Amino acid sequence: MSLLQAAREVRERAYVPYSRFKVGAAIRGASGTIYRGCNVENVAYPEGTCAEAGAIAAMVAAGETRLTEVAVIADSPSPVPPCGGCRQKLAEFADADVPVLLATTDGAQIHTTVGDLLPGRFDAGHMART
Ligand code: THU
Repeated sequence: MSLLQAAREVRERAYVPYSRFKVGAAIRGASGTIYRGCNVENVAYPEGTCAEAGAIAAMVAAGETRLTEVAVIADSPSPVPPCGGCRQKLAEFADADVPVLLATTDGAQIHTTVGDLLPGRFDAGHMART
């Protein structure tokens, strides 16, 4: 199954009683395994989690800490880019050249990379003096 199809399918499971905005994310671990995540909202709004965060949590729980590909899909007028926090979360586990596919359910697509989504990212090298 393609990464985009995995994201499309898991999107249907999003728990979004507040925004009604379903997002699906799929990431490919370095092993080749696909991990899926959907957004999970909460009545205490800031406690909701993004689809990307769910996919990353599934990958780490399965024992992988590197990812090689990302796909995100939503029913939006244009492809939805990951929020700022999710860009940092993706960057934790990905090289800058890892491809990211952003898609709408209508078929619009944007191809970008983890590095382009978060230029000048904070990384472990900035803590080299600690
Ligand atoms: N959301 C995601 O899950 N991923 C994104 O890339 C953008 C936003 C979710 C969070 C919230 O549940 C809903 O979309 C509206 O912000």
